[in-house]
Amino acid sequence: IIKLSFFLGIFAYLNYHVPRTRREILEILIKGLQRLEYRGYDSAGVGIDGGNNKEWESNAKSIHLIKQRGKVKALDEEIHKEQDIDLDVEFDVHLGIAHTRWATHGEPSPMNSHPQRSDKNNEFIVIHNGIITNYKDLKKFLVKLTFFFATLVERVIQQLEGAFALVFKSVHYPGEAVGTRRGGPLLMGVRSDHKLSSDHIPVLYRSSGKDKKSCNSIPRTDQDTCLFPVDEKAVEYFFASDASAVIEHTNRVIFLEDDDVAAVVEGRLSIHRIKRSAGDYPARAIQTLQMELQQIMKGNFSAFMQKEIFEQPESVVNTMRGRVNFDDNTVILGGLKDHIKEIQRCRRLILIACGTSYHAGVATRQVLEELTELPVMVELASDFLDRNTPVFRDDVCFFISQSGETADSLMALRYCKERSALTVGITNTVGSSISRETDCGVHINAGPEIGVASTKVIYQHHIFLFTFTYIKVKDITDALKPLFYLIKEVLSLDDEIQKLAAELYENKSVLIMGRGYHYATCLEGALKIKEITYMHSEGILAGELKHGPLALVDKLMPVIMIIMRDHTYTKCQNALQQVVARQGRPIVICDKDDQETIRNSCRSIKVPHCVDCLQGILSVIPLQLLSFHLAVLRGYDVSATSSASTFIYINRNKHKVFTQTVVLQTSFSV
Ligand code: UD1
Ligand code: F6R
Repeated sequence: IIKLSFFLGIFAYLNYHVPRTRREILEILIKGLQRLEYRGYDSAGVGIDGGNNKEWESNAKSIHLIKQRGKVKALDEEIHKEQDIDLDVEFDVHLGIAHTRWATHGEPSPMNSHPQRSDKNNEFIVIHNGIITNYKDLKKFLVKLTFFFATLVERVIQQLEGAFALVFKSVHYPGEAVGTRRGGPLLMGVRSDHKLSSDHIPVLYRSSGKDKKSCNSIPRTDQDTCLFPVDEKAVEYFFASDASAVIEHTNRVIFLEDDDVAAVVEGRLSIHRIKRSAGDYPARAIQTLQMELQQIMKGNFSAFMQKEIFEQPESVVNTMRGRVNFDDNTVILGGLKDHIKEIQRCRRLILIACGTSYHAGVATRQVLEELTELPVMVELASDFLDRNTPVFRDDVCFFISQSGETADSLMALRYCKERSALTVGITNTVGSSISRETDCGVHINAGPEIGVASTKVIYQHHIFLFTFTYIKVKDITDALKPLFYLIKEVLSLDDEIQKLAAELYENKSVLIMGRGYHYATCLEGALKIKEITYMHSEGILAGELKHGPLALVDKLMPVIMIIMRDHTYTKCQNALQQVVARQGRPIVICDKDDQETIRNSCRSIKVPHCVDCLQGILSVIPLQLLSFHLAVLRGYDVSATSSASTFIYINRNKHKVFTQTVVLQTSFSV
């Protein structure tokens, strides 16, 4: 039943003794999805009661699904084309569920969109965010069982592995809703004109039969166990993956915790958990949101770029999910496993990309060369094409791209294919041209990037190139495991970096110097500063200083140096001395335990230590944050979102490929 999808939009609406026509219900569902559109997605769907009778109860005996690839607007048009649903039928009680999907498992298509169903009669339907790794076992399980709805869902989630947020609807339980989460966000909104029975909902535990709050049977519908309007009538509930979808209906919300099962039965909401753990808070509070819609969409962040920088710890975890197994220290890259032998036999690796993705190639070249003992070329796609670079059939060409659509990278891919090289994609976008046209590859699952400046994907590109080389080395998992916490630790330097930006923003230029693994970090930092702040910035290989660039250094020129305790450490100390000798006042990004460098610099940004070839993942973050704060201080609109994301759809029936450009909203100023 559970087709896999990534972490995009969930919205569900249940009206209990609040009469709504089907038209109104669908409008609420569509509006909810539109509020989640800013996350990017490639298909959408809704599930509602099916019949067209006067009595709403009999309509609930069937479920109608409408799903469409492309924008929510396309789904709305599809709904209005439907001949067999009467939009004017009124429902006193009804549950409608809706979803936006961003394809990671299977192409964007109506069939792969959500809601997904248990069988062709739509007995159970579900909307799902996240990745469930053992989904194949579940269909049988669901179809066989008919328990009390919440109990059924409790049993199902005990079997699930992975991260998810789910909302279920079933013809067997008309007007009832069950939602649950683990890892993926899920909250509930409540609206009623009547006083609610409580402002806290106690958690009902299943494990102990002796427990007063045990819920082995249908929960008691009293004040002690459920939330409901005191005169037992007229209430509406909303489930959403994001507060932005419910805030226009109600500001009263309940944030569900991992493994909570929230059930609405006869207009009463109860929250269930399998077992009580130490430290569990035994109730969920109904909170009042004070925020405006626009604030919620970006959380506490003033721009999507900033939000995406701060999403990086979770994003790194999502990239590794299902591929890196920390229990048995194994790495499986499903997209490459059938080609590893061919790759190992090749004569040369060529990494081809543009912009930030090119920097991911520069960052990983050294480790690729060392571990594969193959010559590795890193190429800017435009230059690679300009040179008519010789490519042979025993070359392996990697195409690194966030969007999977960058024209130069795509042309370079076609050029290499014509010369019979094996082509490998490393891209964030399932269904993109690079993903489709390469012989094999890896989807990095970084989640959509809305901010115009590419930030979080650089990590995922890094990780995959490393993972690829380390594929047989056991300790890769030890190196990757702490990344989540280490990235969080670097992000906590934000205030300090904001202060640094306040000192630098009136300058005309910033030089960023480093070598070895950190040359790429310098190039990437300088690119971000140029792109977002309109300041001149140059990434300089510290080994080249004496061959010219040192002339730029004086007491007025801001210089940032990256010095880490790896094989280039002594040479970097040397460069630091050269800068100081020219009266430069270097700001150094260094290991937090490196007292020598901290002493020799006039200012230091101290980052935690990790394995040397992954250290670039940490050292680039201060530069991303710096570029963001510099831009804000210089008065530029950092709020711009990617002007257009192109989604490619394959129309299998017509064997024809067509493209549709989806323009994401540009919104909000800082
Ligand atoms: C699959 C899931 C992924 C999940 C992982 C572990 C899909 C699409 N991917 O990944 O979300 O995290 O299981 O559960 O369902 N390919 C190319 N070119 C590219 C990128 C990919 O040809 O640029 C091909 C691959 O060779 C493969 C297919 O696309 O055949 C899917 O790739 P990928 O998503 O990386 O595969 P898995 O690691 O199996
Ligand atoms: C920089 C940036 C661009 C992209 C480049 C490649 O912040 O966004 O330099 O990195 O256009 O794009 P992809 O990775 O989509 O091929």
